[in-house]
Amino acid sequence: SRTVARDADGAATVGGIPVTRLAEEFGTPAYFLDEDDFRARCRAWHDAFGGEADVFYAGKAFLSRAVVRWLYEEGLNLDVCSGGELATALAAGMPAERIALHGNNKSEAEIERAVREGVGRIVLDSFQEIVRVAHIAEKLGKRQRVQIRVTVGVEAHTHEFIATAHEDQKFGIALADGQAAEAVRRVLKLDSLELAGIHSHIGSQIFDMAGFEVSARRVVGLLAEIRDEHGTELPEIDLGGGLGIAYTSEDDPREPHEIAKSLSDIVTRECAAAGLAVPRISVEPGRAIVGPTAFTLYEVGTVKELSGLRTYVSVDGGMSDNIRTALYDAEYTVALVSRTSTAGPMLSRVVGKHCESGDIVVRDAFLPADLATGDLLAVPATGAYCRSMASNYNHALRPPVVAVKDGEARVIMRRETEEDLLRLDVG
Ligand code: LLP
Repeated sequence: SRTVARDADGAATVGGIPVTRLAEEFGTPAYFLDEDDFRARCRAWHDAFGGEADVFYAGKAFLSRAVVRWLYEEGLNLDVCSGGELATALAAGMPAERIALHGNNKSEAEIERAVREGVGRIVLDSFQEIVRVAHIAEKLGKRQRVQIRVTVGVEAHTHEFIATAHEDQKFGIALADGQAAEAVRRVLKLDSLELAGIHSHIGSQIFDMAGFEVSARRVVGLLAEIRDEHGTELPEIDLGGGLGIAYTSEDDPREPHEIAKSLSDIVTRECAAAGLAVPRISVEPGRAIVGPTAFTLYEVGTVKELSGLRTYVSVDGGMSDNIRTALYDAEYTVALVSRTSTAGPMLSRVVGKHCESGDIVVRDAFLPADLATGDLLAVPATGAYCRSMASNYNHALRPPVVAVKDGEARVIMRRETEEDLLRLDVG
């Protein structure tokens, strides 16, 4: 972009390091993550609620031990949704009480590890799971703090939300038909479970606060019902993650403090109306923290001009390091970063090296017409759901994640090697 600093040869610099040097040292494709930016976003979320809420970073967006340590140091908690994420969190030294375990089909082994380690909360996702977690906690002689994940009948997409009576999806327990109220009844009867609160997550890459408003209103409504029926006010509500980031200039995300203010205002207002004490709020942003902090660096290989159509620019990665374009029709921008060019714009499609036509990184982009083999391209905003959803399709080697801080770059997750692939192949 225009604001990127360049060295004397015209190469873009990151924390003072030219991308040409980064490519030489770490190879391409590679993800480069700005540690200070990551930490600043953690702090912004933490401070947004003035310490009056708990922020759980959603590890599914991107998780590594270094990231867990940064989160911990910046005062955040961590949401994990698998045994692998839990193991990474614990290996990095995250205290178990600051970890929440999610998932619609947690295995017995995952639940057992979580309970044994003493995770701060398990978010219950089904009637069966209530019994499963209670049984495991009882067997281990523990009382496990839990929340119940409810589906509030709100589905949020990027620029809109839909409120319906029923939802046809696999997560949580429906508020509709008294399902969630029944789940509460069952949990309250079990001595090995401590019901701390109600959880709701309505979607991802959301810009419109209206969906959160409906969700909060319905969750607070359930808290009021619980008080009326059981005489207890639950102390917590979690409103999930899903806050959008800017992938292109069309996206206009709100700042954490604005989001925090509207969430707090909504909850406070609804609680006042219901005569409830305001519960402790928690949120689970993943993308909004890590998404903007990284970019992917690729090297251009083949440049193929289809006359009258567009130019296909093949890079050395693709759907194995960023599946989001193929999967969600996600939009990204791309820039030539190894040099400056005065050539005119050329309608381009940046594609990967995989064996299918859907292997697109950036569907439509204007790149300089003199683009050539060996040029470096950067795709910004690839911190979330790119490395974490990376695959070995076509036996691609998953790229490294390199953290850049104070003009120094260091690998926090190394590139896979052919030996790594062959080590798994024991036939
Ligand atoms: N909490 C729960 C319960 C979730 O299921 C998710 C995301 C989050 C928090 C974090 O959401 P975020 O703040 O990152 O939007 N692979 C998709 C996104 C899937 C999100 C799944 N759940 C993508 O690349 O867009």
